[in-house]
Amino acid sequence: MAQIFSYFALLALGLPFVSALAFTGAVGFGSIATGGTTPFVVTSLADSGTGTFRDAVSVSGRNITFAVSGYVVLASPVSLSSSLTINGQTAPSPGIGLMGREISASGKTNIIIRNLRMRQGNLDTDTGKSAFNMGTASNVILDHCSVEYGVFDSVDAVGAVNITVSNSIIALPIGQQFGAHLETGPATWYRNLWVSAHNRQPLTKANTQYINNVVYNYQAAYTVADTGGLFSHDLIGNYFIAGPSTTSASDDYFQMNANQKVFASGNFLDSNKNGVLDGAAANTVGSAVVSTAPWNSGSTGLATLTAAQAFTSVLASAGAAPRDSVDAFVVASVQSLGTSGAIITNQASTGLANNGYGTL
Ligand SMILES: *[C@@H]1O[C@H](CO)[C@@H](O)[C@H](O)[C@H]1NC(C)=O
Ligand SMILES: *[C@@H]1O[C@H](CO)[C@@H](O)[C@H](O)[C@H]1NC(C)=O
Repeated sequence: MAQIFSYFALLALGLPFVSALAFTGAVGFGSIATGGTTPFVVTSLADSGTGTFRDAVSVSGRNITFAVSGYVVLASPVSLSSSLTINGQTAPSPGIGLMGREISASGKTNIIIRNLRMRQGNLDTDTGKSAFNMGTASNVILDHCSVEYGVFDSVDAVGAVNITVSNSIIALPIGQQFGAHLETGPATWYRNLWVSAHNRQPLTKANTQYINNVVYNYQAAYTVADTGGLFSHDLIGNYFIAGPSTTSASDDYFQMNANQKVFASGNFLDSNKNGVLDGAAANTVGSAVVSTAPWNSGSTGLATLTAAQAFTSVLASAGAAPRDSVDAFVVASVQSLGTSGAIITNQASTGLANNGYGTL
């Protein structure tokens, strides 16, 4: 009876029915993930073999920590098991990164990934793969991750259920030049920094919370691609900022058709590329039907920052810590507020060391 009561109490609050959060501070639909509990320590940066990342994620139920730091150069995609926690924040400075192939949680459930750098790049010759794939996965939370140089998408989440991506950098996709593609949902995108993509920041055919994100140097940002699906969207306190590659600043909301219900509040658009943060309110979302209240009653509670505060906070803390040269490059382009930044086709064109991957 008590459980039934709390279920309805949580429903009334718009919160998922959970007994514990994925971790302290976890928010949104993916926060119901519990991850793994069996300790496993990554002790090798090799691609495969005992003590490697690939070895660590091959068995479900693990709570993974890192005794090594640096890049793992992947020779083939890595497939995660279900019920895993990946604690990138436990790696010694300067942290842990994966480069060269896709990391996939496709079809899996109950996964927590924190403080991990996932940089596919053109070391991967498979143009059908993404930096991170969680297609048809459920109950997944990514927090403080840095996802760069994606080839198909940065984040592929078609058919994904109960997803959070928070406090993360999703930047510089090099192939289709897309950010994230999520279908099914529900999904929460919270305090992320999206930089220099052609489109899909995200493409979301799902009921969605999109709160306190910063999007810079986009060609198109938040989109549903004129889907025939009927979805609800809470868009609160986001900052869209045009950059050198932005051809039409009004594509901050893109292909938002009348099948969509949108609650939009406190969003800003800085369209003038003048090196100063001086945006104006931007709460008119294409042809979407205007909602006067959020579809999810938890959304207002998550939206604790104004768009201007989100800009400061997200630039200071999004992505994996400590911030490395790739993330610093991304953040510096945003700080130019319209005067620098490019949508690229090859990570090497960043001019960073290690063929553009930077060194860890
Ligand atoms: C998604 O989360 C809800 C609780 O909010 C839960 O009832 C449902 O079973 C979850 N879906 C999956 C596929 O685990
Ligand atoms: C998983 O490992 C992290 C890092 O050591 C620890 O803080 C956390 O409590 C562990 N979680 C569980 C469920 O064992």
